[in-house]
Amino acid sequence: MDTITLALAKGRTAEDSIKLLEKTGIYFDDFSNKSRKLVFYDNTGRVKLIFVKAVDVPTYVENGAADMGIVGKDNIMEAEADIYEILDLRLGQCKFAVAGFNDDQPTSGNILTVASKYPAVAKTHFLKKGVPVETIKLNGSVELAPIIGLADVIVDIVETGNTIKENGLTILEELDSISTRLIVNKASFTTKSESVHAFINTLQTGLE
Ligand code: PRP
Repeated sequence: MDTITLALAKGRTAEDSIKLLEKTGIYFDDFSNKSRKLVFYDNTGRVKLIFVKAVDVPTYVENGAADMGIVGKDNIMEAEADIYEILDLRLGQCKFAVAGFNDDQPTSGNILTVASKYPAVAKTHFLKKGVPVETIKLNGSVELAPIIGLADVIVDIVETGNTIKENGLTILEELDSISTRLIVNKASFTTKSESVHAFINTLQTGLE
């Protein structure tokens, strides 16, 4: 069988993703979330794991630098990448939300300023509603934007809701549910069919 390159997103769900793989018998003995190493091989030598920033996983998979990827639905939606989304791994469950101050609902004709780590997601959401928006891309601490007047509202992921609450903001709208997904490069799905399908089936068994 072919070797598979799997791009794993760094961050909150990395350890849980590795645990899920271990449950299915795929071990990366030298993997450590804290190590600076970026490439790991599993116990069979058939899976090469590359450890990359979550936001880059869809890019690696779309371009075939990785055959498969494990990454959050938030990054998949933002990337709008041409890939197959195959499995919901049910890790890192949270949701997209619009948040701001209670009185910040858009008034007709006014352009709403939206700060987000996910400007494409934000734009698509408000476009569907027919609300004209200007998006401002931020890379973190997004909740600060309405507080200091950089934006009217934010579109961000909410897990416990603590960050929103502790910064005096309110959820104005709940959007899509987010969780970690398995994605596959479209060409690899065909050219490495046997290995890719074996990997999918193994992971699926681990989820049951
Ligand atoms: C994420 C997200 C929110 C927060 C939500 O940020 O952007 O700020 O977590 O989690 P909560 O609902 O449990 O409070 P992250 O921790 O990744 O840090 P960042 O602000 O640097 O992006």
